[in-house]
Amino acid sequence: MLIKPVLNAELFGSTPNGEEIKLYTIEIPGVIKASIMDFGATLTHLYVPDRNGKMEDVVLGFDDLAGYQKKEYQENYCYLGSTIGRVGGRIRGNQFELDGVTYKLEPNQGKIHLHGGKEGWDRKVWNAKPINHDSAIGVEFSLKSPEGGDYPGEIDFSVIYSVNPEGELSIEYRGTTDKATILNPTNHSYFNLGGDFSKSILDHTLRLEASRFLPIDENSFPTGELAAVENTPFDFTNPKEISVAIHQNHEQIKLGNGIDHSFAFDVQEKCASLYDPISGRLLELTTTEPGVQVYTSNFLNGNIRGKGDVAYKQHAAICLETQHFPDSINQKDFPSVVLRPGEVFSSKSIFKFSAQ
Ligand code: GLA
Repeated sequence: MLIKPVLNAELFGSTPNGEEIKLYTIEIPGVIKASIMDFGATLTHLYVPDRNGKMEDVVLGFDDLAGYQKKEYQENYCYLGSTIGRVGGRIRGNQFELDGVTYKLEPNQGKIHLHGGKEGWDRKVWNAKPINHDSAIGVEFSLKSPEGGDYPGEIDFSVIYSVNPEGELSIEYRGTTDKATILNPTNHSYFNLGGDFSKSILDHTLRLEASRFLPIDENSFPTGELAAVENTPFDFTNPKEISVAIHQNHEQIKLGNGIDHSFAFDVQEKCASLYDPISGRLLELTTTEPGVQVYTSNFLNGNIRGKGDVAYKQHAAICLETQHFPDSINQKDFPSVVLRPGEVFSSKSIFKFSAQ
């Protein structure tokens, strides 16, 4: 029997400016319980059952808003569960040209402009509105991203998190602009299906319906090539343990310090799955996006202590960032991320959980 999800809202904390941040929880008891806050339109908690029905949280984050507001976390730019915008990934040379105009972007991670920069959408307070349509229950988070500073054009943007009676979690994006600009949002959740964030995800298996991946250079920018995964550690066309891939002696694994690469999907439906053999939890992903940035949390180093005061160490989780390819605006052969007035950007990714 299918059960309609329920939505609850509670206070999660206040920002230093006194803005109240709410936590919205969408739940089907025993099936899924997802919490999202309006700071960064961030997925903070995601409880799903293991093969014995035990509900555990499978995404990294903090127990309260204060954790997300700490200086060391904000300066680390690791984006636990955040909505990323305007543009996911690194932009080569911190600049791009659009319609003959060069736009310069401020660096935020070292010398590089990453994931929307210092004024990224991960640190904005979004407007929230409960939604209830087609039997899915959720919350629409919206913001107006003003022109100025880095990117051209004012963007009207929304992200809808919803759960349907089958228990699937959807993340949908919609955006319009008043002037030509670039847009490539994603969600930066760190999954550990074992639910114990002191352990790594190296024993999880990953499957990607992707016969090509994007090699990177020494600064982690895609080189522009779409390379065959065959005979490389990046071949996940059959499910493979993550440790097997990242322990291979391969130039690209060294450059990424693990996996920190985009993959080009061959299909959209069930294009990726992540499985934890110990708990039996399985995540299956479907997306309208052409690719996914897979990141094995290579830069987590134990400095950040998250939920339950657990230190988040290297490989504590894996991000599956569905999106257009990084640095597309500087790569003429990648699908375009340009958005023009009159066009509507839309994108949907579905995260389906089960246990076996
Ligand atoms: C993305 C990048 C990584 C890293 C994380 C955030 O996944 O590709 O290199 O910067 O975001 O820490």
